[in-house]
Amino acid sequence: NYELELLYEGKAKKVYKYNNYKLLIEFKDDVTAFNGLKKNNIINKGKINKQISSHFFELLNKKGINTHFVRDYDDKSFIAKWTNLIPLEVIVRNYAAGSFCKRYGVKKGYKFEFPLVEFSLKNDELGDPMITSEAILLLKLTSEEILNEIISISKKVNEILSRYLAEVGIILVDFKLEFGLSKEDNQLLLIDEISPDTCRFWDAHTMESFDKDVYREDKGDLITAYTEILGRLKI
Ligand code: C5P
Repeated sequence: NYELELLYEGKAKKVYKYNNYKLLIEFKDDVTAFNGLKKNNIINKGKINKQISSHFFELLNKKGINTHFVRDYDDKSFIAKWTNLIPLEVIVRNYAAGSFCKRYGVKKGYKFEFPLVEFSLKNDELGDPMITSEAILLLKLTSEEILNEIISISKKVNEILSRYLAEVGIILVDFKLEFGLSKEDNQLLLIDEISPDTCRFWDAHTMESFDKDVYREDKGDLITAYTEILGRLKI
């Protein structure tokens, strides 16, 4: 409820116009799973996810990854560069989990020999179907040059975050990234959020989940799990 124009309201975030080139992104307490079929409001989830997301974006900015994150605004929102979104969800996987196990009948926890990069079309109505690189180019969702850049940035993000999290006893199992082209200068930027809503985090020793699987699978308290991740970060 800022005195700003609300441009878009998603399942977990609200996006306001901050100025011609910047957005204010507010993290909501709503949590959803299974494409919105399961839905709850969990006090403080927004604040925790904002903090975790800001921290990861700052780390990535420092490591030379261009992200939309500019600065924190308050405890549940940050200022970001305004981009034209590329309608793709990029999934990077280091271990088998979630839809990968379901799709291929693989046991959860199987460690991949190399990180797997997959794409989904960002479209709620269609249920975010998986899409191949060739279909992405055919449908002109982005250019080949940008697609290659997206793949290489996604792998770099995986290396940076996996290494950082390993130091605090967390396995980065998989995660989802989104990209956009900045309105100001058409620069390719990593956008959206990086939080327990969009990543799978397992304790390196117990394999316990500290992410949205706790909610998806009803296996504990979401705030306890998200607070555990937040507590391990070197903030
Ligand atoms: O469900 P699936 O196993 O494909 O998810 C892979 C990773 O991408 C998980 O970390 C999940 O939280 C994230 N994801 C997401 N948003 C989606 C789909 C997946 O953040 N729409």
